Amino acid sequence: MPNQPENMPADFETALNYLNGVSKPTIDDFKLMAYVETGGEAFYTGIANGAPNQQIKDLLNKNGREERAHAHRLKKVIEKLTGDTFTVPSPAENPYYVQPEGIVVDKDFLNFLIQAEVNGDNLYEAWASNVGDAECAGWLRQNGKEEINHSERAKEAIGYL
Ligand SMILES: [Fe+2]
Ligand SMILES: [Fe+2]
Repeated sequence: MPNQPENMPADFETALNYLNGVSKPTIDDFKLMAYVETGGEAFYTGIANGAPNQQIKDLLNKNGREERAHAHRLKKVIEKLTGDTFTVPSPAENPYYVQPEGIVVDKDFLNFLIQAEVNGDNLYEAWASNVGDAECAGWLRQNGKEEINHSERAKEAIGYL
């Protein structure tokens, strides 16, 4: 599949851990992040399925839908920087599109999510600083700002436990 980045890590978690260590992303890193972000949608769907009540379920599903939108901003970054077409992967094309089962949505888990989302904002800020294109930096910062919104929703969810 020409759309895929080279050397894709085997699973979502390994890919995310790798990307968290990247401060100056290559085009393949942006592509990998698009796969991770759409995988993030499935991640949130899976945990929403295990949420203890409807309020928490709704908050988690909102986050999931925005993860997909983040992949669409990464598509714009990739296309502007390369001049080539990039297609956001469908669930069937994406090895990271896996809904986790059996996750207990409790205070510890929601605190873990808050930290992961704040880390996401830090990562996008670093990428925006190093991308060398003002418009692409703006798209990356918009993703980062929404990761902060996701951490706020996770905080709100703690109040519904
Ligand atoms: Fe995201
Ligand atoms: Fe997020």
